[in-house]
Amino acid sequence: MLAEDAAPPFEALDIDLDLAPLPAMKAAGTANFDFSGLLSQPLRLHEDLANGCGGQTWPAGFVLGKHMLRYHHSDLQDARILELGAGGGLVGLAVARGCTIGHPLYVTDQIEMFDLMGKNIGLNGLEAKVKAAILNWGDALSQEIIDFKPNVILAADCVYFEPAFPLLLATMTDLLALCPSATIYFCFKKRRRADMHFLKKAQKKFNVVELVDEDRPVFSREGLFLFGITAKAQASQSQKVTP
Ligand SMILES: C[S@@+](CC[C@H](N)C(=O)[O-])C[C@H]1O[C@@H](n2cnc3c(N)ncnc32)[C@H](O)[C@@H]1O
Repeated sequence: MLAEDAAPPFEALDIDLDLAPLPAMKAAGTANFDFSGLLSQPLRLHEDLANGCGGQTWPAGFVLGKHMLRYHHSDLQDARILELGAGGGLVGLAVARGCTIGHPLYVTDQIEMFDLMGKNIGLNGLEAKVKAAILNWGDALSQEIIDFKPNVILAADCVYFEPAFPLLLATMTDLLALCPSATIYFCFKKRRRADMHFLKKAQKKFNVVELVDEDRPVFSREGLFLFGITAKAQASQSQKVTP
């Protein structure tokens, strides 16, 4: 829910956590994920770090996935959904399985994750509902994505590597220019002070609103933040994008 009034105070910048550990490295394997029971049929996901950190699931992905399943279960019929930095596809696949969607959604990442995204789409029989695509932050959007014109964008744990911050901001800018009414559902875990620089820059460029979520007291204690990000000009309209 994008609700400035009802949302808890925006306090991400107050956190003085200097360094929180990255998730423990998992051995390659396949496991089931049901998002705390929100998916009646669990997702089956293969995780493998051989081709990069996106090969395993990260904490913000579970928070964002649960948020979408709980609050957007039935309002995404007309949404054109695209996930950035999807890794193995945790969030996008959860939405495809557990939410009512009217269009196939895109899970996107760098080429190193392409095979894993495809494998996980297949493991869950979601070929008709999910497409994998390469989307390198900072690159011009492909014609396929321009034609799709996403209006719901998902991004979980994409703030973790400082040199990529300007690239991610550039892609978010491009997507919000392509579809000015789009909302980016953005979840990240603050691990380093530099992560807050990303947030400050995002606040300058976009309308950034903390989302209401019943799990917030739990995930905020772990340094996780969940935002709805819209184009500045859409600030007044963002209140309408509520679950
Ligand atoms: C920490 S992982 C998060 C994966 C997944 N969203 C989750 O929550 O489990 C970050 C993802 O961002 C992707 N990524 C990093 N830099 C990128 C770039 N420049 N362009 C596109 N994707 C990038 C990585 O490949 C990785 O899959």
